[in-house]
Amino acid sequence: MDVIEILREASNRIYENVKDLAGTEDAAGDFGIGAGGDISRNIDIIAEKTVLDYLKEINFECVVLGEECGRVELSDKPQGFVIMDAIDGSANAVRGVPFFCSSLAFATEDKLSSITDGVITNLSNGEMYWASKNKGAFFNNKQIKVHKKDPVYKIVGINTSGASIELMNKLHPIFKNHDHIRHFGANALEMAMFARGLMDIFIDLRNKIRIQDIAAGYVIVKEAGGMILDENLNPLDADLSYETRVSFIAAANQEILDETMSQINN
Ligand code: IPD
Ligand code: CA
Repeated sequence: MDVIEILREASNRIYENVKDLAGTEDAAGDFGIGAGGDISRNIDIIAEKTVLDYLKEINFECVVLGEECGRVELSDKPQGFVIMDAIDGSANAVRGVPFFCSSLAFATEDKLSSITDGVITNLSNGEMYWASKNKGAFFNNKQIKVHKKDPVYKIVGINTSGASIELMNKLHPIFKNHDHIRHFGANALEMAMFARGLMDIFIDLRNKIRIQDIAAGYVIVKEAGGMILDENLNPLDADLSYETRVSFIAAANQEILDETMSQINN
């Protein structure tokens, strides 16, 4: 079975197991601080267990790097790493805001740039985004590309959750110059929507985002023809450690990148 098929099946199983849970009291149950540093909610635990059970069932030889469960070695001769944020947008999921997803990626080495496959499922409706290296990115079964034409409305995604006053000041010209700034609360799903052409640029300069939140989005954005850069505008890369936090910019083309960066820097 191809890795992408394994991730797709795992993602489908998460959807089946949590789709009726969002917004219920049961979703919120507190399981203490997870490996990623946030409180693990019952919905997070159920979703992660679904993936771990499935990977064990098919004897997939890998090391899982889960946001809640931490590093789980399912084999002593692993083919690579399954990078799992079983629920991205946990706060939305617990409250019942219909914008949360699962994010599963596969990397052959301990670095973002070695990711070969990624799947993001919108858990409020089961829609799936997926990509494999050099094979393109897909939304359900349709190939997707970032938005290359001049859009009717330019949509700029910016994650400002917990941003410092210095960062807000730096970003202020963008807020001032663009009418259509968006932030929905699940980074992975926002990256997937960007890859599908629904946003022109997506910016997260908080230096807070974990590898689990961006791993699948990383390959989906690249395979959809998007640029994914760090805060110094170099190609984004990082190790897969639990301590790693990154900033990144996903841009549909050089023009929107230059336009946006000139506003940030001025
Ligand atoms: C969160 C979401 C959110 C971002 C936070 C992340 P989680 O992921 O991606 O958009 O602002 O920094 O922690 O905790 O729901 O998996
Ligand atoms: Ca999560």
